[in-house]
Amino acid sequence: MTDAIGVGLLGLGNVGGAVATALLERAAALEERAGAPLALRRVAVRDPGKARDAALPPGLLTGDAGAVVADPAVDLVIEVIGGEGAAGALVRDALARGKHVVSANKELIAKAGPELFALARAHGAALRFEASVGGGIPVIAPLLRDLPANRLSAVRGIINGTTNFILTAMAQRGAAFADALAEAQALGYAESDPTNDVDGHDAAYKIAILASLAFGARVPPEAVAVEGIRALAPQDFRYARELGYAIKLLATAERHGEAVLARVHPALLPERQPLARVDGVQNAVQLSGDLAGTLTFQGAGAGPGPTASAVLADALAIAAALAAGAPPPWDPGPWREAASPGPGAIETRYYLRMAVPDRPGVLAAIARELGEARVSIAAVEQRETQPERGTAELAIMTHRARESAVDAALAALRLLPEAHAVNAVLRVEDGP
Ligand SMILES: NC(=O)c1ccc[n+]([C@@H]2O[C@H](COP(=O)([O-])OP(=O)(O)OC[C@H]3O[C@@H](n4cnc5c(N)ncnc54)[C@H](OP(=O)(O)O)[C@@H]3O)[C@@H](O)[C@H]2O)c1
Repeated sequence: MTDAIGVGLLGLGNVGGAVATALLERAAALEERAGAPLALRRVAVRDPGKARDAALPPGLLTGDAGAVVADPAVDLVIEVIGGEGAAGALVRDALARGKHVVSANKELIAKAGPELFALARAHGAALRFEASVGGGIPVIAPLLRDLPANRLSAVRGIINGTTNFILTAMAQRGAAFADALAEAQALGYAESDPTNDVDGHDAAYKIAILASLAFGARVPPEAVAVEGIRALAPQDFRYARELGYAIKLLATAERHGEAVLARVHPALLPERQPLARVDGVQNAVQLSGDLAGTLTFQGAGAGPGPTASAVLADALAIAAALAAGAPPPWDPGPWREAASPGPGAIETRYYLRMAVPDRPGVLAAIARELGEARVSIAAVEQRETQPERGTAELAIMTHRARESAVDAALAALRLLPEAHAVNAVLRVEDGP
């Protein structure tokens, strides 16, 4: 029999519990897949005294994560702690010792990926991170393993389940943002501090990883332009639907020559686009390549089972290579720094919602300001919203316009007495 591959698990929370349970309960099937047993040797947590759902054999649990990494019986470290501090130090220590690492940690990979890959390379270790983006959806392995003959032009995705749950509740039930967020928190989909999700930072880490892999050029998270979903109102979803669109928090990365433009923001997607129909906590990622065309991967973007599925896929790939005496499987390679395409590179259609006085001549005045900034109107919807105050609401869809032109038009509109307030400005992604 091939020697067992010793696994050290760092973290026994939502994901770690599911990974440990699967390692123990599916040991025979995993061994058959890997060609060697995957033996769970030690498990580190912050508080070993806490009650746990996962039933571990006695003696595995410890509060000393460093000792797990240093244990000579551990060949493969699975990091499911999260964050860049303690987890980052432990992953660096493991790689420097030549131990293979599987991590589900998007923040760590997005911020420190190139340094960690170099460390892994220098010590002959593998570092894999399928679970860091899209939970159980295989997307990183397809990007690195299955599409290398393509020149990729774009990666687009709905890669935050919490915000997609909130936006779906707003679209389907007319819920206000605050109520939809409270519901997501009550169901355990949103954390008590939802900032990372609703302000787009979680999606920014993930698109930074996908963009770096797709274009072979490092896109750090701070290079991703981010807008969250707090400003959306239920009527935006109604207007969008009447115009034939859904509203989603979209993460995109596009190649512009040798530069990469990555952003996360709410966007109108045409209802025919598969991403427009990804609802609830589901995630989806679309990859556009010159040979393969556009591929859409969809599934559960989070949760213990799906995330454990991705973690174990990575662990099995490493174990299979070790059992076969092969070098650790793929390495994303050294990345050059991606150039930024500079301001004003975005040219799309825009959706604007504004409160206006309900009297003749208002639309003409607004159209004139937009026209002077070279933004032309494609469609308008008008509603009387507060007849007693004489104000109405306008939803405007523009033709394609440069972002810089729209910014100039908005600055002019804000000075116009005919436009009380511009309450929503959303990009329309007509894409593939
Ligand atoms: N949850 C998901 O659906 C999901 C999906 C995709 C990716 N991920 C990623 O998976 C990772 C884990 O997420 P999670 O939801 O499982 O988190 P979690 O439930 O909060 O679990 C974190 C675990 O790490 C342990 N821990 C914290 N600090 C530690 C330290 N210094 N030393 C040793 N152990 C420590 C905790 O110990 P105690 O139990 O003693 O507190 C806990 O067991 C994160 O990177 C997350 O982004 C999660």
